[in-house]
Amino acid sequence: MLSYRHSFHAGNFADVLKHTIMVAILNHLLKKDKPFCYFDTHSGCGAYSLHSSEALKIKEFENGIMQLWERSDLPLPIQNYVDQVVAFNGKKSLTVYPGSPSIAGQMKRQNDRMFLFELHPNEFINMRANFCDVRQTKIDNTDGLAGLIANMPPKERRGFVLIDPSYENQSDYQSVVDTIQKSIKRFATGTYALWYPVVYRRTIKNLQRNILKTGIRNIQLFELGVGADSDEVGMTSSGMIVINPPWTLKNEMQLALPFLSKQLGVNGKGFYRIETLVAQ
Ligand SMILES: C[S@@+](CC[C@H](N)C(=O)[O-])C[C@H]1O[C@@H](n2cnc3c(N)ncnc32)[C@H](O)[C@@H]1O
Repeated sequence: MLSYRHSFHAGNFADVLKHTIMVAILNHLLKKDKPFCYFDTHSGCGAYSLHSSEALKIKEFENGIMQLWERSDLPLPIQNYVDQVVAFNGKKSLTVYPGSPSIAGQMKRQNDRMFLFELHPNEFINMRANFCDVRQTKIDNTDGLAGLIANMPPKERRGFVLIDPSYENQSDYQSVVDTIQKSIKRFATGTYALWYPVVYRRTIKNLQRNILKTGIRNIQLFELGVGADSDEVGMTSSGMIVINPPWTLKNEMQLALPFLSKQLGVNGKGFYRIETLVAQ
């Protein structure tokens, strides 16, 4: 049974990392006229009120998007991300946070396509309401990992796959690796971004090892932590493993992550990682 609700976490430091990277990847794809296809295997509902009881319970957005809102000193990749949140709020005050499918929906052109998957029935109903009118968008209330494989390769042969599970089952850490391996066989040139939480560092070391074992090349890792790793339950950092990243991404993250770790690190104890896991 699925119990994770992104409405408790929307706009937190993990969303800042994930969505800054996704905006950078989408901006890169937008540089060419040729259409692309965006896949979001774990879409969520797409829009989160920051005045809801869920958002206000722990107020995670306060140490996330709120720290970046209305600042004039942001490095460009972070400014590009914040611009998307501003556009979603209609240039008014910050009241709603856009989920990944809304950011992609806002950035895509008429001929770019989106495939959105959300398994939770209620989240899917909300997602359908948010995206039923968006052009060239297919939404599905099924398992996003199976849905991804079923639609590979996209006819455009240009694409970006965001894999952003809630990791409610321990087996998800292996399923994402198996799915990427299968998908790469059908669509080798796509950009794939896998988000992961760091709750237990050993789990992530294992995930990294399993990614390396696939033999896939051209992999970078970006991580942002707001506190030191700890074996107590709770996420203190999160990361993105990006396969076939745009050649500009590493430089952009070298601008963004030192700033974010300083800005969002609790008591100045933030950290970041920028690593090439496998060269091209
Ligand atoms: C972390 S949230 C997604 C957040 C969203 N990607 C964003 O950045 O705004 C994960 C979502 O995946 C959904 N989910 C869990 N297992 C799934 C599966 N096998 N297939 C599709 N969706 C799933 C959950 O219901 C939840 O809404």
